[in-house]
Amino acid sequence: MRTQDPLRSYQEVFSAYWHPVAFSHEVQERPVAFRLLGTEGVVWRSDTGVAATQRYCAHRGADLCQGERVTQGLRCAFHGWTYGRDGQCLRIPSQPSAPIPASARLDTYRCHERYGLIWVCLADTPAAPLPEWPELEDGTVAAVALPRLDWEVSAGRMMEIILDVAHLSWVHRGTFGNPEQPEVPPYEVERHSGGVRSRIVYPALAPGMEGAPGRVDRTTLTYDVTLPFAVRLAFKPTLFYAHTVYAVASPLSEEKMQCFYFASHHPKIRNFGEMFVKSELAILEQDRRVAEGQRPRAHPVDFAHEVHVKADSLPIEYRRAVAALRLGDAPRLPGLE
Ligand code: FES
Ligand SMILES: [Fe+2]
Repeated sequence: MRTQDPLRSYQEVFSAYWHPVAFSHEVQERPVAFRLLGTEGVVWRSDTGVAATQRYCAHRGADLCQGERVTQGLRCAFHGWTYGRDGQCLRIPSQPSAPIPASARLDTYRCHERYGLIWVCLADTPAAPLPEWPELEDGTVAAVALPRLDWEVSAGRMMEIILDVAHLSWVHRGTFGNPEQPEVPPYEVERHSGGVRSRIVYPALAPGMEGAPGRVDRTTLTYDVTLPFAVRLAFKPTLFYAHTVYAVASPLSEEKMQCFYFASHHPKIRNFGEMFVKSELAILEQDRRVAEGQRPRAHPVDFAHEVHVKADSLPIEYRRAVAALRLGDAPRLPGLE
């Protein structure tokens, strides 16, 4: 980090982006609480779509996730005050004929439903659109989601472990990592205004069944990051089914995230969902143990305090892009060893 660059606050910068706060299937009859960049909110479904407001009632601070959706909007469980999607209180049952005070309103946030997720942007004007994943909307693939990953990891560190090529042969031994192939051949990283992309071929080791030796499965991995915290990762193995993983880390604070993680696959692959959930949870548990142990927890935008080598090009380019958001400019990177 160059000292003359004012580092914008984490909250200020990332408040201007869309982040998922719930899976669509979680928000049905009941409102669902969320935390995003230190803001406590609640999302709920109205007749015309999803809405997001502050979590605690303007009247006496009751938790609105204990409320319920009614025709007009969201009704608080404590005294039945009802709020519309615009946050305005529409009804005070204890005095139905009196005027409603102007202060009887909730802060609202931009809210959008797409890809099976409820997305929220805390700022009035989003700095970037949602990721473009058209294959999820053309009806040609099926999708399966993992339970939310609730890790003590910053969103940036989470993204970096997903983008980390050199860890596969170490951290993922026993799932798909190939301990015989720790060397990372040179690979290209493409940086564009919305993120970074890269493609590698990894000699994954498919475990052998019932004591048989494992088989090497040369797998093409295509990484496609949408800043700040979303990645689409296409797997094209030779032995297993092709599928695409989507991971979006949602920053609860600078040091903690929840990750919404799902996969798309050919709809005719029977039992894909079952197989995917089981194997992916084992793989992610390997990642979690390492990622939760990293310090500092916050995602560094300072390149001086960790050591960068060519094999790390993809996480480095990602970090450079995130640093640019914080600094308003891309920092110069020391030479790679
Ligand atoms: S606290 Fe919500 S209606 Fe009174
Ligand atoms: Fe990993």
